Amino acid sequence: MADDQAQQQGGDGVATAGRDSLTVTDNRSGETFELELTDGTVKAMDFRQMKVSEDDFGLMTYDPAFTNTASCRSDITYIDGAAGVLEHRGYPIEALCEKSSFLEVAYLLVHGSLPEQDELDCWQYAITHHTYVHENIKKSMEGFRYDAHPMTMLLSTVGALSSFYPEAKQIEDQTERNMAVVRLIAKMPTLAAFAYRHQLGQPYVYPDNDLSYAGNFLSMLYKMTEAKYEPDPRLERALDVLWILHADHEQNCSTAAVRAVGSSQVDPYSALAAGIAALYGPLHGGANEAVLKMLERIGTVENIPEFLQGVKDREERLMGFGHRVYKNYDPRAQIIKKHVDEVLEATGATQHPKLEIASELEKRALDDDYFTDRKLYPNVDFYSGLIYEALNIPTPMFTVMFAIPRTAGWLAQWLEMVGDQETRIARPRQIYTGNRELEYTPIDQRG
Ligand code: CMC
Repeated sequence: MADDQAQQQGGDGVATAGRDSLTVTDNRSGETFELELTDGTVKAMDFRQMKVSEDDFGLMTYDPAFTNTASCRSDITYIDGAAGVLEHRGYPIEALCEKSSFLEVAYLLVHGSLPEQDELDCWQYAITHHTYVHENIKKSMEGFRYDAHPMTMLLSTVGALSSFYPEAKQIEDQTERNMAVVRLIAKMPTLAAFAYRHQLGQPYVYPDNDLSYAGNFLSMLYKMTEAKYEPDPRLERALDVLWILHADHEQNCSTAAVRAVGSSQVDPYSALAAGIAALYGPLHGGANEAVLKMLERIGTVENIPEFLQGVKDREERLMGFGHRVYKNYDPRAQIIKKHVDEVLEATGATQHPKLEIASELEKRALDDDYFTDRKLYPNVDFYSGLIYEALNIPTPMFTVMFAIPRTAGWLAQWLEMVGDQETRIARPRQIYTGNRELEYTPIDQRG
């Protein structure tokens, strides 16, 4: 191939290659290669033909944290980080938040198009009627310590669900795939609410099929002795919007985890447990919890300058700011910000001291060259924690609140991965930097 491509060189050594290609000269061998460009990318495997000897492995690309490597083709979510644009299946996030319900967006992500009314009715019915979990799942959750982090409870319980649905292993069977999708979207709020009640030492509340997806979740969180819980429609809607905002975000850490683990052809419950584990980390879904802790630590508006100085001195990190993809205001943060006041009003917490600190912190950071030079703007998590706190949701539950809607995104991405002809087991390469061929020393002769 190198020879064929070398033939495309003009006599003076100037490449006459087509525009959709990249001409690369390997200065070690002097050989020139023309690599095809597709969708603005070059295939990493095309570098492997560049060798200095017959037994050379060939060139690899090095990209820790995958900052410049596309790992799949996807038609689920589009992000333009520079312009602050987010679209699902082509629909702008702003329109979806304004006009759709979370379950409709979940349908859009999973099935690829907006549902017609009868399709939406069927989808809602199926999800509403799979919200119960096996009693043994409830018992296993009861076995956790009273202070277990609810995210660890969710993580292990979703993994445990795999043992309740062994048929989900048949990932090549469309009926099984569909069942797993419905079950996971239906049961995630139930498991999340059970984890919440566990922390409080309160009895678990079973799902109420008369309520909406968000309304039922509020009921499972807050219902006490009343015969029927009636959710405040303002809170129901705010939660629904928050969930739309968190439903998918292309190849983030947890989605990449779901795809990588799922590429081994394990069942979707196990693949999603990997996603939950990734989401738990403070640099990902754990950031909203970290934001609240940060606001608590700052304490008062007067302490903001000192805190920001600490960030600039690299002693602190401004949690809820910055994003790998957005180098502009995260569009999700703009939408959430609008809902904060609405929720505070509905919960009667209008004078929220942390909101005052957050607003002032944002204002000062956006006025400061340190942050603007690095294109650090508020991300989705800067304000979501405040809404959760106003809803009386304890801080450790915040990441669980993120996992509920992201389930739809993980499943859409998992389905796409399973159906993709290019999918092979995810298996990155490494640059080995350790010792070689050491002589083994028996333990009594060491040291
Ligand atoms: N506070 C202070 N400095 C920051 C921050 C921050 N939050 N984020 C980035 N920087 C600085 C960083 O120190 C670096 O500066 P320099 O070039 O002088 O060394 C520069 O900005 C580039 O940062 P980076 O670490 O290379 O950026 P990244 O793309 O690797 O990290 C991030 C992205 C989201 C992990 C990071 O911005 C961060 O840690 N933010 C705080 C945690 C957070 O809010 N995470 C939620 C992300 S949105 C929800 C989700 O997807 O889960």
